[in-house]
Amino acid sequence: MKTYLVTGAAGFIGSNYVKFLLREHEADRVVMLDLLTYAGNLGTLEGDIDGQRGIFIRGDIGDRELADRIFRDYAPDYVVNFAAESHVDRSIDNPQLFLATNILGTQNLLDAARRAWVTGTDASGYPTWRPGVRFHQVSTDEVYGALGDEGYFTETTPLAPHSPYSASKAGADLITLAYRDTYRMPVSITRCSNNYGPYHFPEKLIPLIIKNILEGRPLPVYGDGSNVRDWLYVEDHCRAIDLVVRKGRDGEVYNVGGHNERRNIDIVRTVIATIRRLMTEEPGLRSVLKRREPDGRGGISIDWMTDELITFVRDRLGHDRRYAIDPSKIHAELGWLPTTTFEDGIVRTIRWYLTHQDWVEQVASGDYQQYYERMYGGR
Ligand code: NAD
Ligand code: DAU
Repeated sequence: MKTYLVTGAAGFIGSNYVKFLLREHEADRVVMLDLLTYAGNLGTLEGDIDGQRGIFIRGDIGDRELADRIFRDYAPDYVVNFAAESHVDRSIDNPQLFLATNILGTQNLLDAARRAWVTGTDASGYPTWRPGVRFHQVSTDEVYGALGDEGYFTETTPLAPHSPYSASKAGADLITLAYRDTYRMPVSITRCSNNYGPYHFPEKLIPLIIKNILEGRPLPVYGDGSNVRDWLYVEDHCRAIDLVVRKGRDGEVYNVGGHNERRNIDIVRTVIATIRRLMTEEPGLRSVLKRREPDGRGGISIDWMTDELITFVRDRLGHDRRYAIDPSKIHAELGWLPTTTFEDGIVRTIRWYLTHQDWVEQVASGDYQQYYERMYGGR
């Protein structure tokens, strides 16, 4: 039996990863650590926490005493560190929180793992490590900065982050690699492109657009909408991380992405068209609409659901132009390839949101309304 310590387990990708582990590795145990910030929701993990294979602990990755206690009580073999402040726009408002969580929090976990996993010292003074352990840092393609119209990020692309968020993630990568080089700690890093799928918090582009469409609200697109992101279905990311944790080489960085570049404006148009199509084929789905206009035949109209909802708003400060991942290394070494096409993944995602409006209402009941007013001025 292996024990995973998954941090940030109540967030978007962390929760998908926990579900993936509990499903794929029946003999293994998952200890989940999450502070339950605005982005974390315990309801997301309903059914995953049983106190045996799935154990939940509320706490801060930056808490030294708590981290030591978790290593003492559960002796994890793997640490998979998802916990982070993850939203670029919020990092522009409050950079310091991002540095505290993403850099110092990661360093605190690395230190706790070091205290727990070191078994002695070799003849040169380097620590020796408990066999089979691994600290995995979940990173992002944003650490590489931005691309022009051509080219891809590879693992040797120099780090050149622009936002406080991406700078803090680059800092976390560098301290992880410093533990590899200084203490020979067994670490790995994945740098993934934009994820989408179930349990994505509705401050991020795709779930925010879905939520606004259902409410009949304007759809805010930054700048001229031509910035490009490389989208990957979240389960494909989870599988990539787990392959790296179990089979990747110690000390290596792996880029994860599925060659699925799209302009933001095209993403927004696709989401409008897909919701419209699903609600045309299955009128029963219209029951979740908050904008309720009669269609004259006893049903609810969707005539208003057009590209006219799109509103161009002030651009994000320092907005990175384009991200695109070259995933050749993880494919060549570990055989990873994405299995969900964007065409399938976006329909699955939209269907999930249409049928999980209770989840959206729950996560948007906290500071979400104030955040929305602040960011978008009520639009
Ligand atoms: P998220 O914001 O949905 O979830 C983050 C989770 O971390 C939340 O549950 C939150 O409560 C928790 N958390 C925050 N501060 C904490 C602390 N101090 N201690 C313990 N828990 C804390 O983020 P996400 O989109 O799921 O991203 C997860 C990780 O993946 C992040 O490290 C992010 O940088 C990385 N990543 C995300 C994407 C993406 O497209 N979303 C792509 C590549 C990499
Ligand atoms: O590339 C990986 C990164 O992807 C992760 O490291 C981050 O944690 C994750 O949040 C995501 O960052 P982005 O900034 O790319 O994601 P976001 O959903 O915030 O924005 C996607 C694009 O859409 C970006 O170009 C900004 C734009 N956008 C976003 C919002 C929220 C809009 O045009 N309007 C919006 O309202």
